[in-house]
Amino acid sequence: MQHLIKTSDFTKEEILELFEDAKNYKDMKSNKILEGKIIVNLFFENSTRTRSAFETAAKRLGAEVISLDLGTSSRSKGETIFDTVANINATKPDAIIIRHEDSGAPEALSSCVDCPIINAGDGSHAHPTQALLDLFTIMEHFQGNTEGKKIAIVGDAKNSRVAGSNKKLLPRFGMEVVFVAPDCFKYESTTHKQYDNLNEIIDEVDVVMSLRTQLERHNEIYFSSPYEYAKDYCITKDVFGDRDILLMHPGPVNRNIDISDEMLEDKRNKVLEQVTNGVLVRMAILKKLILQK
Ligand code: NCD
Repeated sequence: MQHLIKTSDFTKEEILELFEDAKNYKDMKSNKILEGKIIVNLFFENSTRTRSAFETAAKRLGAEVISLDLGTSSRSKGETIFDTVANINATKPDAIIIRHEDSGAPEALSSCVDCPIINAGDGSHAHPTQALLDLFTIMEHFQGNTEGKKIAIVGDAKNSRVAGSNKKLLPRFGMEVVFVAPDCFKYESTTHKQYDNLNEIIDEVDVVMSLRTQLERHNEIYFSSPYEYAKDYCITKDVFGDRDILLMHPGPVNRNIDISDEMLEDKRNKVLEQVTNGVLVRMAILKKLILQK
C-alpha cells in the first residue's frame, strides 16, 4: 500500500505516468473508475481549493466522499488526532485525505491505518498534491520540456509548505528553483539562491510563483501593514513588463499584496488553470493509490 505524504513518495516515472493519466480527464467527464469506493476528507485546517478539488476529483471518478471539518468537531470534545483517525479507519474507507497544522502529522498517522493516506498539507512542511499540480501546469505550458527552466518563488517561502514541496520536486525535473524574499522570510539554504528583489533576476526566469504571507504561522509582526510588504513584493505589470514569463500562485491570492489586479487579468497568469489542473492531477492520484491498494 502506498501513501502520498511527500513528493519523493513517487518516482519520476510514477509522476510522469500520473501526468499522462491526468491528461485523460481534461474533458472533465465523469466516469465510474472508483465506483463503490469511499474517500474520507479530514481537514483539521481551513481549505477552499484543495478540499473542493479533492472532492470534485473523487466524485468525477464515481467515489463517495465524506468530508469532516474537524476544526470544529472532535477536537472540541478532547479526542486525540490518533484516536480520531483510528475511528475513521475502523469504518474501512478506501483512502483518507488529511490536512493538519502540525508538520509530520499525516506521516505519523500513516502507520495507524489500513488505507492510503494523502497529505493535503501539513504545517509548513509539505503539500505534495499542490506541487504536483504546479509541475503539471508548468509541463503543460512548456510541452514537457522543463529541463533548464528557472522558477523564482516570491514571498514567505520559509513558512510555506507549497514552497517546501516545490523546492524538492521541481529540481528532479531539471528546474532551478530560486527564492525572492525579504530577510525575515529567507530560510537557511546552501542549495537554493536567494534574492532580495525580483528585479535582480526577472530577466533570467521562466516562471514566477508568488506566495501568500503565512500570517497564521508567524509569532511576530514583520510588517506594519501588508502594503509595506507589497511595495517590494507584489507582482505588478511594472515588474513583469512584456516578458514571456508564467505567473503562478497556489491561492488564496491576496489581491494587490501578492499579485496586482492587472496581473490577475493578464494572460500570463495561470492561477485558475492551476486550480483546474488540481482536479485532473488529483483524479490520477486517487485512482493510482486506491486501485493499487
Ligand atoms: C496553500 C496551503 O494551504 O498551503 N493553499 C492551497 O492549498 N492551495 C497556500 C496558502 O494557504 O497560502
